[in-house]
Amino acid sequence: MGTRDDVERVLISRERLAERVRGLAGEIAAAFGHDRVTVVPILSGSMIFTADLIREMPLKMRINIISVSSYQGATTVSGDLRINHALTDDLTGEPVLVVDDIFDTGKTLKGVLEYLGRFRPAVMRTAVLLQKKARQQVAMEPDFVGFQVPDEFVVGYGLDYNGFYRNLPEIGVLRPECYRPSPEKTAAGKA
Ligand code: IMP
Ligand code: MG
Repeated sequence: MGTRDDVERVLISRERLAERVRGLAGEIAAAFGHDRVTVVPILSGSMIFTADLIREMPLKMRINIISVSSYQGATTVSGDLRINHALTDDLTGEPVLVVDDIFDTGKTLKGVLEYLGRFRPAVMRTAVLLQKKARQQVAMEPDFVGFQVPDEFVVGYGLDYNGFYRNLPEIGVLRPECYRPSPEKTAAGKA
């Protein structure tokens, strides 16, 4: 009874993930005209993507993790984010790469950029593994995108459903009976 039995359809295989992540790392490294970067992964969703991405990026880097949750029950304005951040490195004047698993409405990434902007980094770029264009609600665009995905709830490679399935090595869609909506949760949140 592994998590894999719950997957109805694989959208992106581990081979395609590995190949694209390698390509993305090359694009990012080439675009950063700096000798070093501070990578800010948004946990927990980006942990596997980040781990693979940074090992393909031959840049001198520091890693400075951040985690974000939406306020339960809050409606959707960008100020709803709760950001947990134990910044130990000074971002001021530094090039920063923010990494997230998926750009859905875009509110998370937008909120994180607003927050990090207060530290006055030299430049901020954003990389996301997935983007759901159909759901976008903000004007900003991520700088680097791994794959466009249809408007379906996906899991695996770090992405969860109710906390589970992050360890699936591919990106997939669950069997319908595995999505057991707890109404409060689906209304308010993710992260
Ligand atoms: P946004 O603020 O609407 O862009 O949402 C971004 C966050 O929502 C991501 O970091 C994920 O945690 C979560 N999320 C959005 N869509 C999915 C999905 O299809 N699967 C898993 N998590 C998702
Ligand atoms: Mg998340």
